[in-house]
Formats: sequence, structure tokens, C-alpha cells
Amino acid sequence: MEIIAHRGASGDFPENTLLAIEQALLQGADAIEIDVYAVEDELIVIHDPKLERTTNGSGTIYQHALSYLLQLDAGQGQRIPTLWQVLQLTHGKCWLNIELKGKNTAEPLLALLTKAEQQLGLDPAQLLVSSFNHHLLLQLQQACPALKLGALTASLQLNYARYVADLKFYSIHCDVNFIDQSLVDDAHALGLKAYVYTVDELEDIHAMQQLGVDGIFTNYPARSRVIASEHLT
Ligand code: G3P
Ligand code: MG
Repeated sequence: MEIIAHRGASGDFPENTLLAIEQALLQGADAIEIDVYAVEDELIVIHDPKLERTTNGSGTIYQHALSYLLQLDAGQGQRIPTLWQVLQLTHGKCWLNIELKGKNTAEPLLALLTKAEQQLGLDPAQLLVSSFNHHLLLQLQQACPALKLGALTASLQLNYARYVADLKFYSIHCDVNFIDQSLVDDAHALGLKAYVYTVDELEDIHAMQQLGVDGIFTNYPARSRVIASEHLT
């Protein structure tokens, strides 16, 4: 079961910052999940469209110039990173799950992937792009068929694995409160990976191992790894 650092090692460090990502790498995470919005054709790494919870700014990301957003304090002196900075930091070290939020992310992402291929030698297959917006994922699939795509859901829909398999996506990303054995089994029978968010508690980690999920998003990568290693199935 892979350990995916949710917003970096966000349990102990400011979420979605380069510091949290560096710490997740130090903690031996298999992958890192980040949340991304488009502002002025740049992709920035932050979870909420509102600035108050995680930065010293106020209002929404769309009310401000990019230059203002990038100088805010995102905790412990960290800045809101760009996706380009995160790609540079993680390339060759772990795989990256880019969760697309907000609007107008497709074009800047495709442009950034081209830049990353040219300048870093990044293979799009090293990335997993996910979203609750499945229209957006389809758009990306048409533009870049090599991209691995993950369909996020916050509910337990009927025939969800079949639906995602028919879209020819790579994975289902489900809420820990809804995942069950039949969904995991259906996903695997259809050749899909099953990832679950957000899994921090001992009982949940063990339950996910029991279900045979492929990976968990956790805010505490090192601790979750230890808990999982104590309960190998
Ligand atoms: O990608 C998994 C998880 O991060 C989805 O929910 O709100 O934490 O971005 P959220
Ligand atoms: Mg997320």
C-alpha cells in the first residue's frame, strides 16, 4: 500500500508548501498530493480559494494579482509555491498527484507539462492528475493521452468503478468514509487503482490494508508508514 503525503507532510508542516513537500520526501513518502489553481495562467499550489486559513492574506485568490499571492506567508515563512517549483523539487524523487481545483487549469497545465518535458525530461506518465471535475479530466485526456487520470469522488455512486473504467482513467480516489470492499474489488477487476483520502488514524490505516487499496493519502506519511508496517497483510 503506497503512502501518499496529503498536501505534503501537512500534519506537521504548513500544507501545500515546499517545506511540507521536502519533509514528506524526508519521511519517505511514495508520492505527494498537492492542490492546484490557475491564476493568470500560472498554476499555484493551495487548497482553498480563500486565503485566510493558510496564509496571511485575505479574500480569494481571484481577487489578487499573482505577484501579491506569491509573496504571502503560507506558514513558517513559506510562500505559496508554483506547480513548476514543485515539479522541479519532486522530479526523480517520487511520483506526484496533482489535484486540479478551480477553473481554467487545463491550458496552463498542458503548457507546463511541455516545459517540464523539455527542461526536466519529465515523462507525463510520472504524474497522476486528479480532480472532482471529470469534464476537465476528459479534456486533458484528449489533449495528452499519456497522462494518468484519477477520478475523485466524495460520495459512493452506483457503478462508480465501471463509470471510471469506461472513461479510461487510471484510478478512483475515494473518501475513507465511503470506500468498501466491493468498490475496491470492482476497481481492481476493471484494471483501476484505488486510492483513499484522508487516512491518518490507526484503525483506518489497518482497514485500508485489509481492503487492499493501492494507496492512502495521509497527513502524516512517516507515522502512517510505521502503522502500516505493523499490520502487513
Ligand atoms: O486528492 C485527495 C484529497 O485531497 C481530496 O480532497 O479537499 O483534501 O483536496 P481535498
Ligand atoms: Mg487535495
